[in-house]
Amino acid sequence: MAPRPRITMCAASTIDGRIATRGGDSALSSPEGLALLHRLRASHDAVLVGRGTVDADDPSLTVRLARGRTGSRIILDPSGTLPSGSRVVRTCRSTRTIVATTSRASGRDRRRLADAGAEVVVAGRARISLPALLRRLPPMGISSVLVEGGGRTNWEFASRGLYDELLLEVCPVMAGSSGSVPLLRGEGPARLAGAPRARLLGTRRLGRSVLLRYAKD
Ligand SMILES: NC(=O)c1ccc[n+]([C@@H]2O[C@H](COP(=O)([O-])OP(=O)(O)OC[C@H]3O[C@@H](n4cnc5c(N)ncnc54)[C@H](OP(=O)(O)O)[C@@H]3O)[C@@H](O)[C@H]2O)c1
Repeated sequence: MAPRPRITMCAASTIDGRIATRGGDSALSSPEGLALLHRLRASHDAVLVGRGTVDADDPSLTVRLARGRTGSRIILDPSGTLPSGSRVVRTCRSTRTIVATTSRASGRDRRRLADAGAEVVVAGRARISLPALLRRLPPMGISSVLVEGGGRTNWEFASRGLYDELLLEVCPVMAGSSGSVPLLRGEGPARLAGAPRARLLGTRRLGRSVLLRYAKD
């Protein structure tokens, strides 16, 4: 099998495992957690998020709170309809941006994104095939990827064991379950025997939060 990049997943969650409130607030991190996030961005070749995160947060995904360069950005956008007005699309010419999509994306949208300066990678028909996408990255010069969420994207990577390390900042706040966004959004196994597992590597305080480090088990 062709090698995939090294993958680090990272997220900031509430005590009850939510990454955004029902109103869409996701700025959970402590200042120390934010600084760590930017150091992680600087130390990976690419940062990856799902389309839902672009719609909710309109992030720039650049390195601002740490020394180092901004690498590539990868957006999972199965329908290829990422808005031209989103920050990532508007800044495609200054920061390399890869839009991973499927053959469901229209030729018109693919051209629109390419004209804006994005590299459009088709990896799958109805759904993005993560293994197919990940195989394409090393030849594009990407050997390490930081997966930043959101919930659906996290589940796709975690449930398939497509990660090497998972860093979770648990913040001292609670969101409740109705309408908030879970750390892992997807249909889990019926029985624990079939559940994806992780191995604890370490814990430490991160300002008012706790940082948990796991490896894939
Ligand atoms: N606190 C944090 O650390 C943190 C970090 C990032 C984001 N967030 C929050 O998370 C929320 C967004 O999460 P979300 O779950 O709604 O969205 P998301 O994971 O950001 O994006 C979901 C999108 O990605 C696509 N996708 C992901 N994996 C795919 C795969 N393997 N194949 C095909 N498509 C794939 C989904 O396609 P389909 O529609 O086809 O399923 C969907 O379009 C926002 O509220 C954001 O603020 C929090």
